[in-house]
Amino acid sequence: MAKAIIDLKVIANKRLSPMYSQIVLGLGDNNIESGKDCSDSGAIPDIRSDFESILKSIEPGQFVQIKIEGCNGTFLRRPISINFADPENRQLFILVRNAGEGTKRLCDVAVGETVNVIIPLGKGFSIEDTNKHPLLVGGGVGVAPLLYLGKILKDRGITPSFLLAAKKATDLLLLDEFKKYGNVAISTDDGSMGSRGLVTENPVLNQAWDIIYCCGPLPMMKGIAKISKRQNTKCEVSLENTMACGLGACLCCVEDTVKGNVCVCTEGPVFDTGNLKW
Ligand SMILES: Cc1cc2nc3c(=O)[nH]c(=O)nc-3n(C[C@H](O)[C@H](O)[C@H](O)COP(=O)(O)OP(=O)(O)OC[C@H]3O[C@@H](n4cnc5c(N)ncnc54)[C@H](O)[C@@H]3O)c2cc1C
Ligand code: FES
Repeated sequence: MAKAIIDLKVIANKRLSPMYSQIVLGLGDNNIESGKDCSDSGAIPDIRSDFESILKSIEPGQFVQIKIEGCNGTFLRRPISINFADPENRQLFILVRNAGEGTKRLCDVAVGETVNVIIPLGKGFSIEDTNKHPLLVGGGVGVAPLLYLGKILKDRGITPSFLLAAKKATDLLLLDEFKKYGNVAISTDDGSMGSRGLVTENPVLNQAWDIIYCCGPLPMMKGIAKISKRQNTKCEVSLENTMACGLGACLCCVEDTVKGNVCVCTEGPVFDTGNLKW
């Protein structure tokens, strides 16, 4: 799929908690940049009509690179997962945690502002119709790509189960949205909702799963990878290595894998844990 650099308009900014916002982006009437194409083909797409097909082509787990306007310290774009894509209404959803200057600015964007994105980037989660019992494990803002993954699985006749984790109940994000697509189990560190303790201790992990998809803090993903290895269950994780270009040019996101050093931005961010040197 061709990548596009496109100006999108902020349709809504839903503040989920002081630290998290879900932002809905769409096409404004007059805010589309010339539609530069950074694909290999060199073709210039008609961004207006192509945005819908870009959204249709999104693989859950892919991400966008967002230009942060109005900050002195954010020259580089910031990588953000695609939380949800709605081709019918030409809308793209992102879920943002205020982690620093750039993401704070994003959390605060106002409706009507323009946000420039490169879309779509990276390789997403693999989906096989034979994996009838998938478990989707998300921690913190790592739940972001799992919502769209759940929706796509459901569309393909597979009912996913989610295991969502956070420090406390108020940090659990989009629970009602997740419940639309499958069963939801919860872990909180303080026990304010669901099982008390680490997500890796949740009894749901003792069930037999065809595949486990995971996104969250690195220690959590490593813990889940360890459990899946013990159970001989395929496991895919989405890495959040620090990125600059997002396009495979700067090599700052490299991960050491069984296939050698690879760029997470182009060969991932989703990897089969069997290919990682964890
Ligand atoms: C593939 C991918 C998907 C991501 N998806 C989401 C998402 O859906 N929602 C979300 O809120 N966050 C997501 N992140 C993390 C997000 O990119 C960083 O939190 C953000 O870049 C921090 O920028 P900042 O200016 O707010 O903070 P800074 O002040 O620059 O840094 C704060 C923290 O973020 C880390 N960081 C800084 N720049 C980057 C970078 N370019 N890439 C990764 N980490 C960085 C720093 O090491 C530091 O720990 C994702 C990261 C990757 C690589
Ligand atoms: S971020 Fe530049 S190569 Fe991956």
